[in-house]
Amino acid sequence: MAEIAIIGAGYVGLVSGACLADFGNRVICVDNDARKIERLEAGEIPIYEPGLEDVVRRNTASGRLGFSASLPSALEKSGVVFIAVGTPPSEDGSADLSHVEAVAREIGRTITEYRVIVDKSTVPVGTGRKVRQWIAEELDRRAAGGIPFDVVSNPEFLREGAAVQDFTHPDRIVIGAETEKARGVMRDVYRALYLNETPYIETNIESAEMIKYASNAFLAIKISFINEVANLCEKVGANVQDVAKAVGRDGRIGGKFLHPGPGYGGSCFPKDTQALAYTGKLHGSPLSLVEAAIGANERQKLNMVEKIERGLGGSVRGKKLAVLGLAFKPNTDDMREAPALVIIGELVRRGAEIRACDPAALKEAAWRLRDAGPAVTLFDGEYDALSGADALVLMTEWNQYRSLDLDRVKALLAAPVFFDLRNVYKRNEVEQKGFRYFAVGQ
Ligand SMILES: NC(=O)c1ccc[n+]([C@@H]2O[C@H](COP(=O)([O-])OP(=O)(O)OC[C@H]3O[C@@H](n4cnc5c(N)ncnc54)[C@H](O)[C@@H]3O)[C@@H](O)[C@H]2O)c1
Repeated sequence: MAEIAIIGAGYVGLVSGACLADFGNRVICVDNDARKIERLEAGEIPIYEPGLEDVVRRNTASGRLGFSASLPSALEKSGVVFIAVGTPPSEDGSADLSHVEAVAREIGRTITEYRVIVDKSTVPVGTGRKVRQWIAEELDRRAAGGIPFDVVSNPEFLREGAAVQDFTHPDRIVIGAETEKARGVMRDVYRALYLNETPYIETNIESAEMIKYASNAFLAIKISFINEVANLCEKVGANVQDVAKAVGRDGRIGGKFLHPGPGYGGSCFPKDTQALAYTGKLHGSPLSLVEAAIGANERQKLNMVEKIERGLGGSVRGKKLAVLGLAFKPNTDDMREAPALVIIGELVRRGAEIRACDPAALKEAAWRLRDAGPAVTLFDGEYDALSGADALVLMTEWNQYRSLDLDRVKALLAAPVFFDLRNVYKRNEVEQKGFRYFAVGQ
């Protein structure tokens, strides 16, 4: 079992730290947000992630999981240091590595003996080498160039909303390393899964970095593909639900990520596709499919606005729209790049009034939609949001929005108009209740 420090206690760092402790390792999660560490130490979970609280509580109680705002003290005992800080997009689409660099340099200023530095943040191919260089520069600066260290790439594939399950039951673990010693340390870290015959793929650092981007880009392409097919289905009288079901039965294609909707969002697909496209251009090897998927995704959000506009007779000016769900997907409070932000922003720009709700993301939404001003009102309950609205827009398919009491919805709405941007409901059932029903690709 290993002694581990995780730098960055966000969605990935906190989940990884808690689960690695659950595997039997001793873990200390470090964050430079002192308030976040205070909350964690007080037993509070700063993010909404199903099942996380249990794992954190169990492992803090057993003494295997702790928190600290100080990287140097956390590094004293930890032989393995994970970097799990954010890598947000820069203006030009490239990944902003400033947080990774800050941590790498601090590690270089701190370590006194052999350490394995594991990059878990999603970083462009070539970053492992930069991390090695940043650490080496700091070691040289304090005349400590003889202290040995290894850099490892261990990309994370967890999905928000199912993060604990994904981390503990991954499809694969990817380890990019340069030395047998580092590979041995990583097998020890993941011993619980390694012994469990979880697919465990060892590569060089560059391949590991590329695997993460290639995986996310492929999924993003799949979503944009089915969204474009859905749009064509609408024009030619086909039903994308039937099309996707049959296409997905082909084992070479698979049925997952063939669900049309308002476009992908979240903290990963938008920025990772941008960053991969940027890397492609940088190396004179453009990824035209990825670029096309990005463009299609941007258009899809506007397609939804136009769908709503058409359904309401050509204009949303003065219309009250009840928007159910704001997070980029169910079971998370994450609003980063949520399609709801663009769609609501554009609806407001075109004169609509929004009554929105979400089971977990209201606090985030209040901040991210602040520019919309009084045109957006947020409600705790879906039926409050629906009251007096001219239409229902189902934006995010939280379970509680999948089984709405349609009679009650109809009674609350000023007009029975239903835009189902996630294709959750059955057209004939909704129409039988007297609604005008608009879905995607049907
Ligand atoms: N969120 C996901 O679903 C997901 C999945 C796979 C991979 N990733 C990748 O993992 C990385 C982290 O993503 P996230 O969603 O957890 O981000 P996040 O913003 O939730 O968490 C990052 C944390 O790092 C902390 N931090 C920043 N600089 C620091 C420093 N110098 N020292 C200590 N702490 C510092 C921040 O305070 C924050 O708490 C990104 O590269 C992301 O692309 C994310």
